[in-house]
Amino acid sequence: MHTITFPATADKSGFYEDLRAQLTGLLEGEHDMIANAANTAALLYHALPDVNWAGFYLLQGEELVLGPFQGKPACVRIPIGKGVCGTAAERLQSVVVPDVNEFPGHIACDTASRSELVVPLLRNGKLLGVLDLDSPLPGRFDETDRTGCERLAAIFLASLGSVS
Ligand code: SME
Repeated sequence: MHTITFPATADKSGFYEDLRAQLTGLLEGEHDMIANAANTAALLYHALPDVNWAGFYLLQGEELVLGPFQGKPACVRIPIGKGVCGTAAERLQSVVVPDVNEFPGHIACDTASRSELVVPLLRNGKLLGVLDLDSPLPGRFDETDRTGCERLAAIFLASLGSVS
């Protein structure tokens, strides 16, 4: 069993540095995408403060399909270009939404969610899916969270190996 530790939050960069070490250890030696996505979601959900949903949507054809996650049950299929997840997938760029009520087309899965961060996952230059984080607090995610989660996503992607 992996024991999650909760690093001090005063220094957010240090917090993410610690999380990177934990995620690297958690995924070490395993290449299965579903298993590693599940453990990544569990680590993020339990270690990040004020997060009510953490998980993956994986690309299937022209839409994103719900993958491993922690939190309340969520909508299953999101077309590319729709919602925050579909927007990040279309732009191939992370999207930080300080107030989901101000984001046109936001898809509400948990009405408690007030802010959101979505990181696209690129494997061998191709979109694999997105990593999605929701918070019940408005403005929960800043640039440090964005870069921190992008680096965590990179660790998840590297764990899969180079086979497409
Ligand atoms: N809010 C997302 C949908 C996924 S849930 O937050 C888990 C969106 O607008 O794409």
